[in-house]
Amino acid sequence: MTASVSAPKKLFIKTYGCQMNVYDSERMAEAMGANGYVTTDRAEDADMILLNTCHIREKAAEKVYSELGRLRPLKEANPELKIGIAGCVAQAEGEEILRRAPVVDLVVGPQTYHRLPEMEAAARAGARPVDTDFPEEDKFERLPKGPRASRGPTAFLTVQEGCDKFCAFCVVPYTRGAEVSRPAERLLREARDLVERGVREITLLGQNVNGYHGLGPDGTVWSLARLVRELAGIEGLWRIRYTTSHPNDMSDDLIAAHGEVEKLMPYLHLPVQSGSDKVLKAMNRKHRAEDYLRLIERLRGVRPDLALSGDFIVGFPGETEADFEETLALVRAVRYHSAFTFKYSARPGTPAAERPVLPDAVLDARLHRLQALIAEQQRAAQEAMVGREVGVLIEKPGRLPGQMVGKSDHLHAVHVADCAATPGELIRVRITGSAPNSLAGRVL
Ligand code: 5AD
Ligand code: SF4
Repeated sequence: MTASVSAPKKLFIKTYGCQMNVYDSERMAEAMGANGYVTTDRAEDADMILLNTCHIREKAAEKVYSELGRLRPLKEANPELKIGIAGCVAQAEGEEILRRAPVVDLVVGPQTYHRLPEMEAAARAGARPVDTDFPEEDKFERLPKGPRASRGPTAFLTVQEGCDKFCAFCVVPYTRGAEVSRPAERLLREARDLVERGVREITLLGQNVNGYHGLGPDGTVWSLARLVRELAGIEGLWRIRYTTSHPNDMSDDLIAAHGEVEKLMPYLHLPVQSGSDKVLKAMNRKHRAEDYLRLIERLRGVRPDLALSGDFIVGFPGETEADFEETLALVRAVRYHSAFTFKYSARPGTPAAERPVLPDAVLDARLHRLQALIAEQQRAAQEAMVGREVGVLIEKPGRLPGQMVGKSDHLHAVHVADCAATPGELIRVRITGSAPNSLAGRVL
Protein backbone atom coordinates (compact mmCIF):
# COMPACT_ATOMS: atom_id res chain seq x y z
CA MET A 1 0.00 0.00 0.00
CA THR A 2 1.40 3.42 -0.90
CA ALA A 3 0.84 6.18 1.60
CA SER A 4 -0.91 9.18 0.12
CA VAL A 5 0.53 12.60 0.90
CA SER A 6 -2.65 13.71 2.58
CA ALA A 7 -3.04 10.62 4.79
CA PRO A 8 -3.34 11.81 8.37
CA LYS A 9 -0.40 11.14 10.64
CA LYS A 10 -1.07 9.03 13.68
CA LEU A 11 -0.60 10.07 17.28
CA PHE A 12 -0.43 7.61 20.15
CA ILE A 13 -0.75 9.07 23.65
CA LYS A 14 -0.12 7.09 26.81
CA THR A 15 -1.46 8.77 29.92
CA TYR A 16 -0.13 8.23 33.43
CA GLY A 17 -1.39 9.52 36.76
CA CYS A 18 -4.36 11.66 37.62
CA GLN A 19 -7.55 12.62 35.82
CA MET A 20 -6.11 16.00 34.95
CA ASN A 21 -3.59 14.21 32.75
CA VAL A 22 -6.48 12.42 31.04
CA TYR A 23 -8.04 15.79 30.30
CA ASP A 24 -4.69 17.22 29.15
CA SER A 25 -4.11 14.28 26.82
CA GLU A 26 -7.43 14.97 25.09
CA ARG A 27 -6.45 18.62 24.66
CA MET A 28 -3.03 17.64 23.26
CA ALA A 29 -4.70 15.35 20.74
CA GLU A 30 -6.90 18.27 19.65
CA ALA A 31 -3.87 20.56 19.39
CA MET A 32 -2.02 18.06 17.20
CA GLY A 33 -5.03 17.95 14.89
CA ALA A 34 -3.65 21.27 13.59
CA ASN A 35 -0.56 19.39 12.32
CA GLY A 36 -2.70 16.78 10.57
CA TYR A 37 -2.68 14.15 13.31
CA VAL A 38 -5.41 11.74 14.29
CA THR A 39 -5.12 9.50 17.35
CA THR A 40 -4.44 5.79 17.28
CA ASP A 41 -4.51 3.27 20.10
CA ARG A 42 -1.65 1.25 18.59
CA ALA A 43 1.85 2.53 19.37
CA GLU A 44 3.26 0.45 16.49
CA ASP A 45 1.24 2.46 13.94
CA ALA A 46 2.17 5.86 15.31
CA ASP A 47 4.12 8.67 13.64
CA MET A 48 4.34 10.32 17.02
CA ILE A 49 4.18 8.94 20.55
CA LEU A 50 3.51 11.15 23.55
CA LEU A 51 3.92 9.96 27.11
CA ASN A 52 1.87 12.20 29.38
CA THR A 53 3.67 11.56 32.62
CA CYS A 54 3.16 11.67 36.37
CA HIS A 55 5.77 12.63 38.95
CA ILE A 56 3.77 12.25 42.16
CA ARG A 57 5.61 9.17 43.43
CA GLU A 58 8.99 7.72 42.56
CA LYS A 59 7.49 4.64 40.91
CA ALA A 60 5.38 6.80 38.61
CA ALA A 61 8.45 8.63 37.28
CA GLU A 62 10.54 5.46 36.87
CA LYS A 63 7.76 3.89 34.79
CA VAL A 64 8.37 6.52 32.13
CA TYR A 65 12.00 5.52 31.66
CA SER A 66 11.15 1.83 31.42
CA GLU A 67 8.44 2.64 28.86
CA LEU A 68 11.03 4.57 26.82
CA GLY A 69 13.21 1.45 26.85
CA ARG A 70 10.31 -0.53 25.41
CA LEU A 71 9.72 2.10 22.70
CA ARG A 72 13.32 2.07 21.44
CA PRO A 73 12.78 -0.82 18.96
CA LEU A 74 9.87 1.10 17.38
CA LYS A 75 12.13 4.07 16.85
CA GLU A 76 14.84 1.86 15.39
CA ALA A 77 12.32 0.35 12.98
CA ASN A 78 10.94 3.77 12.02
CA PRO A 79 13.43 6.65 12.30
CA GLU A 80 10.62 9.08 11.34
CA LEU A 81 8.80 8.29 14.60
CA LYS A 82 8.88 11.21 17.02
CA ILE A 83 8.68 10.62 20.76
CA GLY A 84 7.63 13.36 23.17
CA ILE A 85 7.50 13.52 26.96
CA ALA A 86 4.70 15.65 28.38
CA GLY A 87 3.28 16.19 31.86
CA CYS A 88 4.87 16.45 35.28
CA VAL A 89 8.05 14.40 34.71
CA ALA A 90 8.70 16.69 31.74
CA GLN A 91 8.22 19.71 34.00
CA ALA A 92 10.41 18.35 36.78
CA GLU A 93 13.25 16.93 34.72
CA GLY A 94 13.27 19.03 31.52
CA GLU A 95 16.61 18.81 29.66
CA GLU A 96 17.70 15.91 31.88
CA ILE A 97 15.28 13.66 29.97
CA LEU A 98 17.07 14.40 26.68
CA ARG A 99 20.37 13.43 28.28
CA ARG A 100 19.07 10.29 29.90
CA ALA A 101 16.91 9.10 26.99
CA PRO A 102 18.34 9.67 23.49
CA VAL A 103 15.09 8.37 21.90
CA VAL A 104 13.20 11.44 23.11
CA ASP A 105 12.62 14.19 20.53
CA LEU A 106 10.77 16.79 22.58
CA VAL A 107 9.86 17.66 26.16
CA VAL A 108 6.75 19.72 26.94
CA GLY A 109 5.52 20.74 30.39
CA PRO A 110 1.85 20.78 31.43
CA GLN A 111 1.51 24.53 30.94
CA THR A 112 2.74 24.79 27.35
CA TYR A 113 1.14 22.02 25.36
CA HIS A 114 -0.67 24.55 23.15
CA ARG A 115 2.83 25.05 21.69
CA LEU A 116 3.12 21.34 20.85
CA PRO A 117 2.37 21.72 17.09
CA GLU A 118 5.32 24.13 16.65
CA MET A 119 7.50 21.87 18.74
CA GLU A 120 6.61 18.83 16.67
CA ALA A 121 7.51 20.75 13.50
CA ALA A 122 10.85 21.74 15.07
CA ALA A 123 11.49 18.12 16.04
CA ARG A 124 10.80 17.03 12.44
CA ALA A 125 13.39 19.62 11.36
CA GLY A 126 15.96 17.96 13.60
CA ALA A 127 15.79 20.00 16.82
CA ARG A 128 15.05 18.52 20.25
CA PRO A 129 12.89 21.27 21.76
CA VAL A 130 12.21 21.57 25.50
CA ASP A 131 9.51 23.90 26.83
CA THR A 132 8.70 23.91 30.52
CA ASP A 133 7.64 27.56 30.85
CA PHE A 134 4.78 28.87 32.94
CA PRO A 135 3.43 31.30 30.32
CA GLU A 136 0.98 34.12 30.90
CA GLU A 137 -1.49 33.03 28.22
CA ASP A 138 -4.28 30.54 28.93
CA LYS A 139 -3.26 27.33 27.19
CA PHE A 140 -6.88 26.24 26.95
CA GLU A 141 -7.95 29.39 25.08
CA ARG A 142 -4.98 29.10 22.73
CA LEU A 143 -5.81 25.55 21.71
CA PRO A 144 -7.40 25.21 18.27
CA LYS A 145 -11.08 24.38 18.43
CA GLY A 146 -11.13 20.88 17.00
CA PRO A 147 -14.01 19.29 15.12
CA ARG A 148 -16.99 19.12 17.44
CA ALA A 149 -16.99 15.35 17.65
CA SER A 150 -19.73 13.77 19.72
CA ARG A 151 -18.64 12.58 23.15
CA GLY A 152 -19.39 9.83 25.61
CA PRO A 153 -21.75 10.56 28.50
CA THR A 154 -19.05 11.64 30.99
CA ALA A 155 -16.32 14.24 30.71
CA PHE A 156 -13.70 16.03 32.77
CA LEU A 157 -13.42 19.79 32.83
CA THR A 158 -10.33 21.42 34.31
CA VAL A 159 -11.44 24.49 36.26
CA GLN A 160 -8.36 25.09 38.40
CA GLU A 161 -4.75 24.10 38.22
CA GLY A 162 -1.76 24.20 40.53
CA CYS A 163 -1.58 24.27 44.28
CA ASP A 164 -0.44 26.77 46.92
CA LYS A 165 -0.73 24.38 49.86
CA PHE A 166 2.81 22.98 49.86
CA CYS A 167 2.22 19.74 51.74
CA ALA A 168 5.72 18.68 52.78
CA PHE A 169 5.70 15.49 50.67
CA CYS A 170 4.17 16.78 47.44
CA VAL A 171 5.66 17.86 44.11
CA VAL A 172 2.46 19.36 42.70
CA PRO A 173 3.16 22.98 43.75
CA TYR A 174 6.46 22.71 41.85
CA THR A 175 5.34 20.76 38.77
CA ARG A 176 1.94 22.39 38.26
CA GLY A 177 2.82 25.75 39.77
CA ALA A 178 0.71 28.25 41.71
CA GLU A 179 -3.08 28.00 41.88
CA VAL A 180 -4.78 29.43 38.80
CA SER A 181 -8.56 29.40 38.30
CA ARG A 182 -10.06 29.63 34.82
CA PRO A 183 -12.69 32.34 34.29
CA ALA A 184 -16.22 31.05 34.96
CA GLU A 185 -17.65 32.28 31.66
CA ARG A 186 -15.26 30.05 29.69
CA LEU A 187 -16.10 27.07 31.87
CA LEU A 188 -19.83 27.58 31.40
CA ARG A 189 -19.24 27.83 27.65
CA GLU A 190 -17.12 24.67 27.62
CA ALA A 191 -19.71 22.83 29.73
CA ARG A 192 -22.57 23.84 27.40
CA ASP A 193 -20.49 22.70 24.44
CA LEU A 194 -19.85 19.32 26.09
CA VAL A 195 -23.56 18.89 26.79
CA GLU A 196 -24.42 19.67 23.16
CA ARG A 197 -21.99 16.90 22.21
CA GLY A 198 -23.75 14.34 24.39
CA VAL A 199 -22.08 14.72 27.79
CA ARG A 200 -24.45 14.24 30.76
CA GLU A 201 -22.02 14.17 33.66
CA ILE A 202 -19.14 16.58 34.20
CA THR A 203 -16.37 16.13 36.75
CA LEU A 204 -14.71 19.44 37.57
CA LEU A 205 -10.99 18.98 37.98
CA GLY A 206 -8.35 20.83 39.93
CA GLN A 207 -5.38 19.91 42.10
CA ASN A 208 -7.13 21.95 44.75
CA VAL A 209 -10.51 22.24 43.07
CA ASN A 210 -12.47 23.57 46.03
CA GLY A 211 -10.00 26.44 46.23
CA TYR A 212 -11.48 27.59 42.90
CA HIS A 213 -11.81 31.37 42.78
CA GLY A 214 -12.41 32.34 39.16
CA LEU A 215 -13.53 35.60 37.64
CA GLY A 216 -17.29 35.52 37.15
CA PRO A 217 -19.06 37.10 34.16
CA ASP A 218 -20.43 39.70 36.60
CA GLY A 219 -16.93 40.84 37.50
CA THR A 220 -16.99 39.28 40.99
CA VAL A 221 -14.91 36.32 42.12
CA TRP A 222 -16.85 33.05 41.98
CA SER A 223 -16.29 30.20 44.41
CA LEU A 224 -16.61 26.54 43.43
CA ALA A 225 -20.06 26.49 45.06
CA ARG A 226 -21.19 29.39 42.86
CA LEU A 227 -19.79 27.69 39.77
CA VAL A 228 -21.55 24.42 40.65
CA ARG A 229 -24.87 26.22 41.15
CA GLU A 230 -24.58 27.93 37.75
CA LEU A 231 -23.56 24.71 36.01
CA ALA A 232 -26.57 23.02 37.55
CA GLY A 233 -28.72 25.42 35.51
CA ILE A 234 -27.53 23.91 32.22
CA GLU A 235 -30.32 21.87 30.71
CA GLY A 236 -29.20 18.40 29.61
CA LEU A 237 -26.43 18.28 32.18
CA TRP A 238 -27.61 15.83 34.83
CA ARG A 239 -24.68 15.21 37.10
CA ILE A 240 -21.83 17.25 38.54
CA ARG A 241 -18.83 16.02 40.54
CA TYR A 242 -15.56 17.64 41.52
CA THR A 243 -12.13 16.43 42.54
CA THR A 244 -9.65 16.79 44.35
CA SER A 245 -10.37 18.86 47.43
CA HIS A 246 -8.47 20.05 50.47
CA PRO A 247 -10.33 20.00 53.82
CA ASN A 248 -9.37 23.60 54.58
CA ASP A 249 -11.18 24.85 51.47
CA MET A 250 -14.53 23.16 52.21
CA SER A 251 -16.37 26.45 52.60
CA ASP A 252 -19.82 26.88 54.15
CA ASP A 253 -21.43 27.54 50.77
CA LEU A 254 -19.88 24.41 49.26
CA ILE A 255 -21.09 22.28 52.16
CA ALA A 256 -24.54 23.82 51.74
CA ALA A 257 -24.47 23.05 48.00
CA HIS A 258 -24.19 19.35 48.83
CA GLY A 259 -27.58 19.58 50.51
CA GLU A 260 -29.22 21.90 47.99
CA VAL A 261 -27.98 21.18 44.47
CA GLU A 262 -29.66 18.02 43.29
CA LYS A 263 -27.27 17.55 40.36
CA LEU A 264 -24.27 17.58 42.67
CA MET A 265 -23.70 13.86 43.22
CA PRO A 266 -23.44 12.38 46.74
CA TYR A 267 -19.78 11.50 46.43
CA LEU A 268 -16.75 13.38 47.70
CA HIS A 269 -13.05 12.68 47.45
CA LEU A 270 -11.57 14.46 50.43
CA PRO A 271 -8.01 13.39 51.25
CA VAL A 272 -6.77 13.65 54.83
CA GLN A 273 -3.46 11.71 54.44
CA SER A 274 -3.09 10.81 58.14
CA GLY A 275 -5.08 10.58 61.36
CA SER A 276 -2.26 11.77 63.60
CA ASP A 277 -2.05 15.46 64.50
CA LYS A 278 1.70 15.17 64.86
CA VAL A 279 2.06 13.74 61.35
CA LEU A 280 -0.48 16.19 59.90
CA LYS A 281 1.61 19.03 61.32
CA ALA A 282 4.83 17.54 59.92
CA MET A 283 3.05 17.20 56.56
CA ASN A 284 2.11 20.91 56.69
CA ARG A 285 -1.56 20.02 56.22
CA LYS A 286 -2.63 22.90 58.49
CA HIS A 287 -5.56 21.07 60.09
CA ARG A 288 -6.04 18.49 62.82
CA ALA A 289 -7.72 15.08 62.58
CA GLU A 290 -10.58 16.44 64.68
CA ASP A 291 -11.19 19.30 62.19
CA TYR A 292 -11.55 16.74 59.44
CA LEU A 293 -13.99 14.61 61.44
CA ARG A 294 -16.10 17.71 62.24
CA LEU A 295 -16.16 18.59 58.58
CA ILE A 296 -17.36 15.10 57.64
CA GLU A 297 -20.07 15.42 60.26
CA ARG A 298 -21.27 18.71 58.77
CA LEU A 299 -21.26 17.27 55.26
CA ARG A 300 -23.24 14.24 56.38
CA GLY A 301 -25.56 16.58 58.21
CA VAL A 302 -26.67 18.11 54.91
CA ARG A 303 -26.25 14.94 52.83
CA PRO A 304 -26.58 11.81 55.00
CA ASP A 305 -25.85 9.36 52.16
CA LEU A 306 -22.65 11.14 51.05
CA ALA A 307 -20.07 8.57 49.89
CA LEU A 308 -16.60 9.50 51.02
CA SER A 309 -13.28 8.66 49.55
CA GLY A 310 -9.79 9.75 50.54
CA ASP A 311 -6.04 9.48 50.13
CA PHE A 312 -3.65 8.17 52.78
CA ILE A 313 0.11 8.12 53.02
CA VAL A 314 1.67 5.53 55.32
CA GLY A 315 5.19 5.75 56.67
CA PHE A 316 5.65 9.50 56.43
CA PRO A 317 9.02 10.37 58.07
CA GLY A 318 8.61 10.25 61.85
CA GLU A 319 5.32 8.26 61.79
CA THR A 320 5.29 5.96 64.82
CA GLU A 321 3.13 2.88 65.38
CA ALA A 322 0.89 5.03 67.60
CA ASP A 323 0.55 7.66 64.85
CA PHE A 324 -0.39 4.98 62.38
CA GLU A 325 -3.00 3.61 64.76
CA GLU A 326 -4.54 7.08 64.85
CA THR A 327 -4.91 6.84 61.09
CA LEU A 328 -6.70 3.50 61.49
CA ALA A 329 -8.94 5.07 64.12
CA LEU A 330 -9.83 7.97 61.84
CA VAL A 331 -10.66 5.56 59.01
CA ARG A 332 -12.92 3.59 61.38
CA ALA A 333 -14.65 6.80 62.45
CA VAL A 334 -15.27 8.02 58.89
CA ARG A 335 -16.38 4.77 57.21
CA TYR A 336 -15.12 5.35 53.67
CA HIS A 337 -16.72 4.05 50.49
CA SER A 338 -13.24 3.72 49.01
CA ALA A 339 -9.79 5.19 49.51
CA PHE A 340 -6.39 5.36 47.88
CA THR A 341 -3.43 4.32 49.98
CA PHE A 342 0.21 5.09 49.26
CA LYS A 343 3.56 4.28 50.77
CA TYR A 344 5.46 7.46 51.42
CA SER A 345 7.90 8.15 48.59
CA ALA A 346 10.56 10.85 49.05
CA ARG A 347 10.36 13.34 46.20
CA PRO A 348 13.47 15.40 45.43
CA GLY A 349 12.96 19.09 46.09
CA THR A 350 10.17 18.68 48.66
CA PRO A 351 10.83 19.56 52.35
CA ALA A 352 10.10 16.01 53.56
CA ALA A 353 12.76 14.56 51.25
CA GLU A 354 15.39 15.81 53.71
CA ARG A 355 13.97 13.71 56.57
CA PRO A 356 15.05 10.16 57.45
CA VAL A 357 12.82 7.50 55.91
CA LEU A 358 11.36 4.49 57.73
CA PRO A 359 12.34 0.94 56.74
CA ASP A 360 10.42 -0.30 53.71
CA ALA A 361 9.19 -3.34 55.65
CA VAL A 362 7.40 -0.99 58.08
CA LEU A 363 5.76 0.83 55.17
CA ASP A 364 4.67 -2.45 53.60
CA ALA A 365 3.17 -3.74 56.83
CA ARG A 366 1.25 -0.50 57.50
CA LEU A 367 0.03 -0.28 53.93
CA HIS A 368 -1.24 -3.82 54.18
CA ARG A 369 -3.13 -3.18 57.42
CA LEU A 370 -4.67 0.04 56.15
CA GLN A 371 -5.70 -1.56 52.87
CA ALA A 372 -7.34 -4.45 54.70
CA LEU A 373 -9.40 -2.03 56.78
CA ILE A 374 -10.40 0.02 53.75
CA ALA A 375 -11.31 -3.09 51.75
CA GLU A 376 -13.59 -4.12 54.63
CA GLN A 377 -15.26 -0.69 54.60
CA GLN A 378 -15.63 -0.76 50.83
CA ARG A 379 -17.34 -4.13 51.05
CA ALA A 380 -19.65 -2.89 53.81
CA ALA A 381 -20.53 0.27 51.85
CA GLN A 382 -21.33 -1.77 48.75
CA GLU A 383 -23.36 -4.32 50.65
CA ALA A 384 -25.37 -1.50 52.20
CA MET A 385 -26.45 -0.55 48.67
CA VAL A 386 -28.08 -3.95 48.03
CA GLY A 387 -31.86 -3.55 47.87
CA ARG A 388 -31.63 0.20 47.32
CA GLU A 389 -32.85 2.09 44.28
CA VAL A 390 -30.19 4.21 42.58
CA GLY A 391 -29.71 6.32 39.46
CA VAL A 392 -27.30 4.79 36.93
CA LEU A 393 -25.85 6.70 34.00
CA ILE A 394 -25.28 4.06 31.34
CA GLU A 395 -21.80 4.17 29.77
CA LYS A 396 -21.27 1.01 27.70
CA PRO A 397 -22.32 -2.60 27.10
CA GLY A 398 -21.16 -5.13 29.68
CA ARG A 399 -19.49 -8.46 29.00
CA LEU A 400 -22.65 -10.54 29.30
CA PRO A 401 -25.36 -10.48 26.62
CA GLY A 402 -27.99 -7.82 27.31
CA GLN A 403 -25.95 -6.32 30.12
CA MET A 404 -25.08 -2.61 30.32
CA VAL A 405 -22.58 -0.90 32.63
CA GLY A 406 -22.78 2.53 34.19
CA LYS A 407 -22.04 4.51 37.34
CA SER A 408 -24.38 5.04 40.24
CA ASP A 409 -24.89 8.42 41.91
CA HIS A 410 -22.34 7.25 44.51
CA LEU A 411 -19.86 6.37 41.77
CA HIS A 412 -20.17 2.63 42.07
CA ALA A 413 -19.81 0.71 38.81
CA VAL A 414 -23.15 -1.05 38.25
CA HIS A 415 -23.74 -3.99 35.90
CA VAL A 416 -27.37 -3.86 34.85
CA ALA A 417 -28.87 -7.12 33.55
CA ASP A 418 -31.36 -7.28 30.64
CA CYS A 419 -31.00 -3.60 30.01
CA ALA A 420 -32.36 -1.93 26.87
CA ALA A 421 -30.98 1.51 27.75
CA THR A 422 -28.23 3.00 25.58
CA PRO A 423 -25.09 4.92 26.65
CA GLY A 424 -26.03 8.36 27.95
CA GLU A 425 -29.36 7.29 29.46
CA LEU A 426 -29.94 7.81 33.15
CA ILE A 427 -32.08 5.00 34.50
CA ARG A 428 -33.44 3.86 37.87
CA VAL A 429 -31.98 0.59 39.02
CA ARG A 430 -32.56 -1.73 41.98
CA ILE A 431 -29.25 -3.01 43.36
CA THR A 432 -29.39 -6.80 43.64
CA GLY A 433 -25.84 -7.82 44.52
CA SER A 434 -22.32 -6.74 45.35
CA ALA A 435 -19.06 -8.02 43.80
CA PRO A 436 -15.55 -6.95 44.91
CA ASN A 437 -15.40 -3.82 42.72
CA SER A 438 -18.89 -3.38 41.37
CA LEU A 439 -22.61 -3.79 42.01
CA ALA A 440 -25.23 -5.75 40.11
CA GLY A 441 -28.70 -4.36 39.46
CA ARG A 442 -31.91 -4.64 37.48
CA VAL A 443 -33.93 -1.99 35.73
CA LEU A 444 -36.92 -0.68 37.65
N1 5AD B 1 4.48 9.88 48.59
C1 5AD B 1 3.36 9.13 48.66
N2 5AD B 1 2.16 9.55 48.30
C2 5AD B 1 2.06 10.81 47.82
N3 5AD B 1 1.01 11.51 47.38
C3 5AD B 1 1.43 12.72 46.99
N4 5AD B 1 2.76 12.84 47.16
C4 5AD B 1 3.17 11.65 47.69
C5 5AD B 1 4.43 11.15 48.10
N5 5AD B 1 5.53 11.88 48.04
C6 5AD B 1 -0.36 11.00 47.42
C7 5AD B 1 -1.24 11.85 48.34
C8 5AD B 1 -2.07 12.64 47.37
C9 5AD B 1 -2.19 11.66 46.22
C10 5AD B 1 -2.59 12.26 44.93
O1 5AD B 1 -0.91 11.10 46.11
O2 5AD B 1 -2.04 10.98 49.11
O3 5AD B 1 -3.33 13.01 47.90
FE1 SF4 C 1 -0.07 18.23 46.88
FE2 SF4 C 1 -2.73 18.15 47.34
FE3 SF4 C 1 -1.05 19.03 49.26
FE4 SF4 C 1 -1.48 20.51 47.05
S1 SF4 C 1 -3.01 19.96 48.65
S2 SF4 C 1 0.49 20.11 48.01
S3 SF4 C 1 -1.68 18.92 45.48
S4 SF4 C 1 -1.18 16.94 48.39
